[in-house]
Amino acid sequence: MSAVRIDGKAFAAKVRAQVAEHVTRLKQDHGITPGLAVVLVGEDPASQVYVRSKGKQTVEVGMNSYEHKLEADTSESDLLALIDRLNNDPAVHGILVQLPLPGHLDEDLVINAIDPAKDVDGFHISNVGLLGTGQKSMVPCTPLGCLMMLRDHHGSLSGMDAVVIGRSNIVGKPMAQLLLGDSCTVTIAHSRTKDLPGAVRRADIVVAAVGRPQMVPGDWIKPGATVIDVGINRIDKPEGGTRLVGDVDFDSCAAVAGAITPVPGGVGPMTIACLLANTLTATCRANGVAEPEGLTA
Ligand code: GUN
Repeated sequence: MSAVRIDGKAFAAKVRAQVAEHVTRLKQDHGITPGLAVVLVGEDPASQVYVRSKGKQTVEVGMNSYEHKLEADTSESDLLALIDRLNNDPAVHGILVQLPLPGHLDEDLVINAIDPAKDVDGFHISNVGLLGTGQKSMVPCTPLGCLMMLRDHHGSLSGMDAVVIGRSNIVGKPMAQLLLGDSCTVTIAHSRTKDLPGAVRRADIVVAAVGRPQMVPGDWIKPGATVIDVGINRIDKPEGGTRLVGDVDFDSCAAVAGAITPVPGGVGPMTIACLLANTLTATCRANGVAEPEGLTA
């Protein structure tokens, strides 16, 4: 079998177009322009690239983008003071603090200082609790993007066996909650799982989010399963130079799977698209305007 490629790049463009349409309507009908504040502490090169890309795409969908770049040695109290200002700024509907933070800053403390209604990452403990209990919340962007692609491909996910490989707070755990919310039978596998190949072989849906290049081979995949690859790993090419690969071995998995996301061009572009969708959702909720359909969990 040769798998269908799930085109995350095209899907993300569709989501951004939908967001842009709603932003235009919010401006015209209500005089509201959604605003997203992104806070970057330090000079991590990968984080700088992400933040630049977020700012650019925010403006492209018609939202206001507020970038706050702070020195790597910024004190916790200065960062908390900035978050407090953003929490109280009516022009800011979404706040994202780029992770990882420099080691001297307490990530949990900082994330939990964000107003949960503006927590477009869905990392605040209130949003985590709301998601876990099936209540309306802000949903983490990468798992939301994966869910959108799965729903688009399958329609209903009800009754499907899903395995999530990886138990991070950013992807693995919220992904499992979302799949459970859509009535999948969910296994969360991780580095201590005794029989990982066995767990993956049972799954109709495989979400790989471990950060280990090409660790899932095709002979672990159930024929016809849908494979969502969250990994973005840079590896050396034998002939020199580098290339991006996911957490699954694309060629061998694509030969067995029913559908698969490529790397790059799969989950990656969906993350920022869902950040924009979350910013729109937060703006609508803050202003008592009906939320757009299909852009939330
Ligand atoms: N660093 C890597 N992924 C993310 C993300 O989704 N949100 C934030 N804030 N930081 C990240």
